[in-house]
Parts: sequence; C-alpha cells; structure tokens
Amino acid sequence: MARIVAGVGCSHVHAIGDAIDLGKTEDEYWHRLFEGFKRSKELMSELRPDLLIGVFNDHGSAMPLQYIPTFSLGVAAEFKPADEGWGARQVPIVKGDPEFAWYLAEALILDEFDMTIINEMVVDHGLTVPLSLMFGPAKEWPCPVIPLCVNALTYPSPTGKRCFDLGRAIRKAVAAYAPDLRIVILGTGGMSHQIHGERSGLINSVWDKRFLDRLSSDPLELASIPLLEYVRETGAEGIEMVMWLIMRGALNDEVEEAYRFYHVPASNTAVGNIILMNRGSSG
Ligand code: DHB
Ligand code: FE
Repeated sequence: MARIVAGVGCSHVHAIGDAIDLGKTEDEYWHRLFEGFKRSKELMSELRPDLLIGVFNDHGSAMPLQYIPTFSLGVAAEFKPADEGWGARQVPIVKGDPEFAWYLAEALILDEFDMTIINEMVVDHGLTVPLSLMFGPAKEWPCPVIPLCVNALTYPSPTGKRCFDLGRAIRKAVAAYAPDLRIVILGTGGMSHQIHGERSGLINSVWDKRFLDRLSSDPLELASIPLLEYVRETGAEGIEMVMWLIMRGALNDEVEEAYRFYHVPASNTAVGNIILMNRGSSG
C-alpha cells in the first residue's frame, strides 16, 4: 500500500531561486542559509520518495486573478517552470503522476473537498524553489510531483483548520491506494513576511518558532489559529503558513522531528524548514 513517510515544511522565497540560478549561494548574504539546507537534502536522499505531494500557492503566474480556486490539484503529466518576468528558471520540468493524481482528486472530492482539477499549469517559485532546496541541483527531479495549489494570494485563504482537515483526507486517500509508494508531502511558503505596504519587512521570529514547536507537538491547537492572527502576527504573506497544516494533517498524530532550520533574512522573509518523520501510529 502507499504510505506517507515524511512531511516537509519549507519557505519558497523567490530570491532563493535567483541566488541558486545566479551562482550566489556562497556569497556572504546567502552562505548560512544554504548551509542550513545541506542536511535537508541528505535527509531527502535517505528517504528516497517515490512520489511527492507539493502543496504550494501560485503567485499569479499560472492562475489569472479572474479565477481564484481555493484548492486545486494538478492531474497533468508535466508542469513546466513559469516565466515570472525574467524567463523561466532553468530547472527540471515537474513530472506528474496522472494516475495517482486522478485517484486523489476523486478521493478528495468524494470526501467533500471540492478540488479544482488542473489539466494544464506552469509552476512558479512557490513550488520550484522548495524543490531546488530539497533536491537540487538536478537534471530531473527524483520522483513525480503532484501539485496541490492553495489560494494564499487573495484574502480569504482557507483556514488553518480547513487545511489541516484536507491533510487528514489526503492521509485517508493515500492509505487506501494499492500501489506500494513512499510518499513525502511538502508544505511550502512562509514563514513571517510582508512584502508590501506600511508593514513591509515585518518579521516575527518568536511567533514563527512557536509555530514550528506546535507543528510537531500540538497541531490541533495550531489548526485553530484564525486567519487574522496570521496576518496580524506574521504579515499579510505569512498566511502562506496555512499550507504547512495540510502537510501536518496528512501525517500521523505523532511524528518525529528529524530536522529544523530557521533563518532571517532572505529577501523580506523569515525562512523555515522542518522535516517530520511519520513514525507514530495513525491515530
Ligand atoms: C518573497 C516572499 C514570498 O513568499 C514570495 O512568494 C516571493 C518573494 C520575498 O520575501 O521576497
Ligand atoms: Fe510566496
């Protein structure tokens, strides 16, 4: 049977992709950040996932503002990197797994999560930067990736509770999928940041670190945090962290924290990375 072996929370700051692509990872500004992701890459290669569920938000690259699906799932065979204004990143094309993706779409919709089905989409830094941080540089990503998009761009996003419950539904669907797949679920975005307006540059490290603590030990309490607390405490874009709750909801009640990294700054953003092994009972 398929099983989720680990969950990863990872920031997706655009400028990290630029630093990689422009060969600046050893520069003074970036060095410490990329050192912090070395262990993450080792852990990913030890985990050898057969499939990745990549939870991210599109930043207006694929989805025009005319249509704003709250949750959507990519069922295509491939997803090309988006041109976000400077040409597409020279990173591998994301290969999907239409068979599993259609299975997951059906399971989630029948479980009353109304996913928008995406047959064609480019993927922006929201997904490609975490892939680079976990698996790069690479000629091919190590396994198929199912993109699961969440609206974190236009208020209101789905609540943390709704995201956590979607994770639970993913967990149930995976457990009922016959092929023997080792699956890693990736929640991207955050941590605290605001990139526009009067509070531009806002960082709240105390809140971020408590978020990481509770992600391991008290996810239900974390899931009850209202959207406005994210905005107030972590900046308008900090709301991206609700996507980490989809990842956490898909894991067992008990997890083992294998790695944590927190760094400020990267552009305007506090960068976080956490790797949770799915060791406990499924509760
Ligand atoms: C930045 C943060 C983001 O979440 C993002 O999607 C793009 C850029 C930033 O801090 O620059
Ligand atoms: Fe973002």
